[in-house]
Amino acid sequence: MTQQRGAIVVGASSGIGEALVRRLAAAGYEIGMAARRTDRMRRIGSELPTKTYVATMDVTDTEDAREGLFELAAAMSSVDVVVISAGVAHVNRDLEWEPERETIDVNVRGFAAIATATMEYFEETPDHASATDGHLVGISSVAAHVGNGDAPAYHASKAYVSTYLKGLRYRQNQRDADVTITTVEPGFVDTKLSLGGFWECSPETAAEQIARAIRKKRNHAYVTRRWRLIAGVLDLAPEWLLRRLF
Ligand SMILES: NC(=O)c1ccc[n+]([C@@H]2O[C@H](COP(=O)([O-])OP(=O)(O)OC[C@H]3O[C@@H](n4cnc5c(N)ncnc54)[C@H](OP(=O)(O)O)[C@@H]3O)[C@@H](O)[C@H]2O)c1
Repeated sequence: MTQQRGAIVVGASSGIGEALVRRLAAAGYEIGMAARRTDRMRRIGSELPTKTYVATMDVTDTEDAREGLFELAAAMSSVDVVVISAGVAHVNRDLEWEPERETIDVNVRGFAAIATATMEYFEETPDHASATDGHLVGISSVAAHVGNGDAPAYHASKAYVSTYLKGLRYRQNQRDADVTITTVEPGFVDTKLSLGGFWECSPETAAEQIARAIRKKRNHAYVTRRWRLIAGVLDLAPEWLLRRLF
């Protein structure tokens, strides 16, 4: 008999997270969903073919969110993968404090709270009933590669996510537990949050490619793959050009 696999998605109530729980459930994963909109998650969960657990969670309430993650994981038969998709984005050229604060609270503080809780769970729960030592997937963005005058906090927050995940990957060199760390950098995905534009893919396509990155235990994935080109150009572009464009 094959062991039941399980996946937790934080930020599962809409967009990429919702599409991903649908995709992972179709692949046989038991699903743990977390976000603030409980009713939406219950409805999505009722449509999934595998067992679903729902946790109401505001990642900005970091102590409560970490506790919620541990409780959700304990309730499930197995947790092989934790995906952190929760995020917000604001265009904020006027630099109002509230949108900047919320972006930092959700995308940086909330992200780090869940990432550290996930690592603690994989490394310190003696038998977390998983076939692997665990897999943490963070949804960053191609935005991580450049500053942006329209959305300064959002781009900076995604640079934090990408660099943090890199740090966790390097940290694995000195650890006994072999936890896989995957950084996902989407370009534009057609959700309520999208600030885009061109080369926009559907949440379903994004979920398909993220599921593939999980299956292949990739360190890094651009979604869609051609966004690698844009990221490469942004990394090499001179400051004067970036200043004109962003
Ligand atoms: N769409 C794009 O073009 C794009 C591009 C690159 C990267 N991304 C990244 O992809 C991730 C998912 O975004 P999306 O496009 O799927 O947008 P979305 O549909 O707005 O989904 C955002 C998710 O984050 C959750 N969330 C927001 N604030 C939260 C909080 N305080 N506590 C817990 N959960 C919270 C939302 O749930 P509740 O509101 O129910 O709490 C929702 O499930 C984000 O990290 C985003 O930065 C998106």
